[in-house]
Amino acid sequence: MSFLTRRKSIESITTMNETQRLHRTLSWWHLIALGVGAIVGTGIYTLIGVGAERAGPAVLIAFIIAGLVCICAALAYAELATLMPVSGSAYTYSYAVIGEGVAWVIGWSLVLEYSVVCAAVAVGWSGYAVGFLQSAGIDIPHALVAGPHAGGIINLPAIFIVAGVAGMLLVGTRESATLNIILVILKLAALAAFIALALPAFDAGNFKPFMPYGFAAHEVDGQVRGVMAAAAIIFFAFYGFDAVSTAAEETKNPGRDLTIGIIGSMVVCTLVYIGVAAAAIGAMPFLDFSSSGEPLAHVLRTLDHPGVATFIGAVAVVALPTVILAFMFGQSRIFFVMARDRMLPERLGKLNKRGTPVAVTVGTALVVSAIAGFFPLSEIAELANAGTLAAFVAVGLCLIILRVRKPDLPRVFRAPMPWLVGSIAIGGCIYLFISLPGVTQFRFLIWNLIGAAIYLAYGARKSRLAG
Ligand code: ALA
Repeated sequence: MSFLTRRKSIESITTMNETQRLHRTLSWWHLIALGVGAIVGTGIYTLIGVGAERAGPAVLIAFIIAGLVCICAALAYAELATLMPVSGSAYTYSYAVIGEGVAWVIGWSLVLEYSVVCAAVAVGWSGYAVGFLQSAGIDIPHALVAGPHAGGIINLPAIFIVAGVAGMLLVGTRESATLNIILVILKLAALAAFIALALPAFDAGNFKPFMPYGFAAHEVDGQVRGVMAAAAIIFFAFYGFDAVSTAAEETKNPGRDLTIGIIGSMVVCTLVYIGVAAAAIGAMPFLDFSSSGEPLAHVLRTLDHPGVATFIGAVAVVALPTVILAFMFGQSRIFFVMARDRMLPERLGKLNKRGTPVAVTVGTALVVSAIAGFFPLSEIAELANAGTLAAFVAVGLCLIILRVRKPDLPRVFRAPMPWLVGSIAIGGCIYLFISLPGVTQFRFLIWNLIGAAIYLAYGARKSRLAG
């Protein structure tokens, strides 16, 4: 079983066959846009309602907890991504620092995370798109806009948007990233408008009782409740900065650009979220918006701002695809790198003339469509969180292990207080993981058992390190 602990040398990670290298086309502003594009999405636009339902006004604390854990993970990511500026994110770092067995689990978990996030956001997008079309007088039969769990047959709009985004990626990274920037600006403008209009209605009375369901995650009448239960789903709203590190190999000036890209996008989003959450809770009793499928638009409509409510809905329709874009991009890169390492069949890593791994992008789009077309949003989002939490634990571990093992490596970016930052990332993610519903933990386990079987049957024998 020594294959489980074999590692790549850090030096070997940055030297590879030029024909297998992705093109360096991205600069820091592409990366911030990629980061914010991946971070701001269904989490703040839709899951804020689910969070409030689980924690009451204390969803604010859930935002702070999830944000704190993610900032620590982002710091660890920034140090590792600048040290190893190649594709593969937590998978690549684990391969160099911990060993092949853990790297496989993390890579396999990232494949789950990135695919399932795309599916979750596609379903969220579909909800907004259908509402938008309805307000324009266009009704699509319910059977075609909802999966069987919601009394429909298939969620066609969700599949449509997945196909559209996959097409953008196939056209080439730079074009997609540039369009992404315009959409990111729109998305932030809509959240700023929300804060500006909801804050004047602020009533401190809406914060009482502040923590009606207590702190720890627990079940009440079959429903998960508590601040930590909320944090475990709100966590979804924060990640995406890790998608930036998957672009490391395609960055023109990795040392400077990745640091700005990862930390910058994280800080912008955390501040905006806390503002949005405080404004929403202050504007009305949380139960009045928590079950809405479009909570932000609902709050503004109730406050008699129908025009801006429609604007927010329209922005969600136009801009949520940027989240799918970033995660589908990240997913194809994880696959690409795992194939390059021969952990998966090498033909999956074949690039087209524009440097895009076509087979993986198309395959990913098909699987994501199948999930988005038939499964419910909350369950998909929680499963995505499980995969992400596993990756963040590994990144925290890699940060600490490498500081001990190789303290003198020339680090372009050094995370401050690495022991504290690494420990908060690891401990926080484990606590969030155990706050997820049992069924989600079980699904994650099944996914990894399937992964372990594939690894033992293929990667353990074929990997480049197998010699
Ligand atoms: N953070 C991303 C979102 O909220 C996944 O949609």
